[in-house]
Amino acid sequence: MITLQKNGTLWLDTDGNPIHAHGGHILQHEGYYYWYGEDRRENIYVSVYRSRDLVSWEFRGHCLTTESKTESYRVRTDLKLYQKTDDGIRKVNIERPKVLYNEKTKLFVMWAHYENGLDYHDARACIATCETPDGAFTYRGSFNPYGNMSRDCTLFVDEAGDAYFASASRDNADLAVYRLTEDYMNVDAQVNTLFQGEFREAPAYFYRPENQKYYLLSSYCTGWNPNQGKFSVSDSMDGRWSIPDLFGDETTYRSQPSFVLPYKKANGETEYLYFADRWGGGGELYFTSSYIVLPIRFRDNGDAYIDWCENCVIED
Ligand code: GAL
Repeated sequence: MITLQKNGTLWLDTDGNPIHAHGGHILQHEGYYYWYGEDRRENIYVSVYRSRDLVSWEFRGHCLTTESKTESYRVRTDLKLYQKTDDGIRKVNIERPKVLYNEKTKLFVMWAHYENGLDYHDARACIATCETPDGAFTYRGSFNPYGNMSRDCTLFVDEAGDAYFASASRDNADLAVYRLTEDYMNVDAQVNTLFQGEFREAPAYFYRPENQKYYLLSSYCTGWNPNQGKFSVSDSMDGRWSIPDLFGDETTYRSQPSFVLPYKKANGETEYLYFADRWGGGGELYFTSSYIVLPIRFRDNGDAYIDWCENCVIED
């Protein structure tokens, strides 16, 4: 049985410091959960924490900062990691970082949303890589996949082992879904364009073997303010997806999806944990942002829902 940290509060790491892992993602690797997410302090972009139990989180490093090493590769990208202005260095925006491990290249590959720090019009994907899960990542640059705008994003590996990157495109009106190349370093096909004109963002996929369905959670597009979450279901990543249906209450319990973690319990069952941000807002308020984790429940027809719990207990 695990009792998660209290929902809607500032979660602390094992040193007693607030966890800065917003808009993040958890990767399971060799017995650890690695939690990557946004850290907006000083020159930091992404921090990483690790845990064996999802309760105590050890800070492992600032894995992407303005000082990160940059290195180009075969895809033409923009390697700029900060702006030089008359007042000195100005950060760009790197949001919603997600990380997968690539078995072929033995690299941890991060994809995120890049904006130039001056305006919000670049709408690019960006990539960074590392040989270890919690080392200093090398920045490989930003680009627009097939020229598309690319904002809120996620990564996901399907049952066939293919990896996908999905991101809000066309000024957030649609969600573009791309299959990745085998090395996860580029998109190799746009396999779907979902929710035309519905302005869904904060995408989070998971697969549920019980009914062999893929699920996609998303929020509506209202900046830092929470709104009604929705879920959609499909038989495959490139197939037909159901019309988004209500998930949670009208503010999704004041949260916005960051990712879903399938958690294997000791009894062999899987809990699908909805990880979300309760944003404090922009600027300094960002630092009062907290997290929500709720077990996803399913109705007999497969519909997904969540109920609020403050101190969530996962029974084995
Ligand atoms: C949200 C988005 C967040 C952040 C915020 C800034 O819509 O999901 O990741 O970009 O806007 O306003």
